[in-house]
Amino acid sequence: MYSYKRTTYCGMVKEQLLNTHVELIGWVSRRRDHGGLIFIDLRDRTGIVQLVFSPEYSKSIHELASTLRSEYVISISGRVVERSSSTINKDLPTGKYEIQVDSLTILNKAKTLPFALDDTTEIDEELRLKYRYLDLRRPYMHERLALRNDVIFAIREFFHEREFYDVETPILTRKTPEGAREFIVPSRMHQGSFYALPQSPQLYKQLLMAAGFEKYYQIARCFRDEDLRADRQPEFTQLDIEMSFIDEQDIQSVIENMLAHVWKKSFNISLSLPFMRMSYDNAFSHYGSDKPDLRFEMPIVDCTALFADTQLSFMQTILKQGGKVGALHTAHREWTRSELDTWVNTAHQLGAKGLVWIRLKDGQLESPIAKFLPADSLERITKLWPDFTENSTLFVIAGSYKTAWTTLGRLRLELAKSLDIINHAQHKFLWIINFPLFEFDEDTKTWNSVTHPFTAPVPGFETQELGQVRSRSYDIILNGVELGGGSIRIHDPHLQERVFKFLGLSEKETQDKFGFLLEAQQLGYPPHGGIALGLDRLIMLMSKSPSIRDVIAFPKTSRGHDPMMDAPVELDNIQLREYGLIIKKAQSA
Ligand code: AMO
Repeated sequence: MYSYKRTTYCGMVKEQLLNTHVELIGWVSRRRDHGGLIFIDLRDRTGIVQLVFSPEYSKSIHELASTLRSEYVISISGRVVERSSSTINKDLPTGKYEIQVDSLTILNKAKTLPFALDDTTEIDEELRLKYRYLDLRRPYMHERLALRNDVIFAIREFFHEREFYDVETPILTRKTPEGAREFIVPSRMHQGSFYALPQSPQLYKQLLMAAGFEKYYQIARCFRDEDLRADRQPEFTQLDIEMSFIDEQDIQSVIENMLAHVWKKSFNISLSLPFMRMSYDNAFSHYGSDKPDLRFEMPIVDCTALFADTQLSFMQTILKQGGKVGALHTAHREWTRSELDTWVNTAHQLGAKGLVWIRLKDGQLESPIAKFLPADSLERITKLWPDFTENSTLFVIAGSYKTAWTTLGRLRLELAKSLDIINHAQHKFLWIINFPLFEFDEDTKTWNSVTHPFTAPVPGFETQELGQVRSRSYDIILNGVELGGGSIRIHDPHLQERVFKFLGLSEKETQDKFGFLLEAQQLGYPPHGGIALGLDRLIMLMSKSPSIRDVIAFPKTSRGHDPMMDAPVELDNIQLREYGLIIKKAQSA
């Protein structure tokens, strides 16, 4: 029988332990043989320490050590000694010491691994996820999950101190209107009926306010069957919050203070509060985005007036259709002609029909459309961009306001990357407030909610057209990534019914889908609001990871597949029958 005792951890071997006897357990990270001595890097969850096996201490143990291979699990005991000055490893916190081993037990052997755990090796992601437990052994992954653990602890500490209730809400629920497609689960007991997995606990948390809890939070698992990207997973975690008798400022202030607490605990950094606030309309007109990265400036400037009397026929057509012209300005960078051609191609890829550049070289304006520019163009340009000087370049895009500005917003990010003007050490938080309440879907010719249909409109909406109505919503942005979003909710059943009507729901559909909510709104329903932050995204940004998958222990691939468990899988006919299901394969064309 082994007792699996250890007196300390590998990463904790330090000066105080010098010349003492220690017992350690861990994985063989690396083995080197040098002139009769065997060196092992022993790794556990705290770090690495060097072991030395010499035939002089024990011949049999030295012999056993020669059989050790990478990732064997061993337990050892030995004496902590100082390394000679020439062999100190400055990269390792324990690099001044080593253990002269006098006892060795092999607890488990390992075959050759499918990939080396060496951090510097580029490993195919499918393979990493198939052997996720090996991938997770890497310090890179350990650090991320350790940060996640600490952040969740700090969050719980913060909300517990402020007397929020942590309430769990169901995973098996019904479809809700939150924009994304849902995962559905067939019911065995109610054959032909399906549960949906929650996109978020939205309606439950509102009903918890109806239940009088007043302050709710949950670290909640959410599910969305949508196309995946570097910052999206089908199954992800939200920090979900709801509060009664509050306004936008109250919720925003709770979130700011919570993030300040997390930053202090995790990085010992004091965030400066309050964060900046910007309306959706301003964000879009200045940065062509509802999540602008403000670690650099480079705003979009409306220069439609510059082209009001232009002879350029494509520009005339766009302006006649009510379009606009916007431009970005880069200073002090002499782009080559081929670089400018590449930017034209980039703009095409980003969604623009075309891009025109105008630059100042040797005191002259240069541009493919130079001969169409009015004589006083330089003067007019300098009025719009007072810092337009030698080697300044304008990147001009014309089109409908929405398309042109969206493309300029994307181009702004690409230009900033190319100019290397983004300060990656900065944490730039920002609130975007008052999104439109509805947006028109050109394909289906219907109005949809921009967030969800429980979001309250800004007062004064009664006299506005649907497209003008703004909502009492707010998104929190960090370094150009949407970290979270929320709103003050509708608590008047008549207004709620009107919103459902604007969204094209018949009275019957409204009753079928939301009858329970409308009823709750007539049974003592408090004014309330809330927000949800993507927890995985938060950790991804905090740890500066390139992908959300790097901060989730067992994520899915970008195709929604789990290569380790091999999920999803087909069911056999017996199982299908139990659920009353028949699978009809789509005919391949
Ligand atoms: P929303 O849909 O904006 O709001 O989601 C809130 C935050 O959740 C994160 N998120 C995701 N993270 C990873 N993978 C995904 N597929 C994914 N989808 C969303 C984002 C996002 O900002 N119930 C409302 C909140 C409310 O109104 O209180 C909601 O879910 O960081």
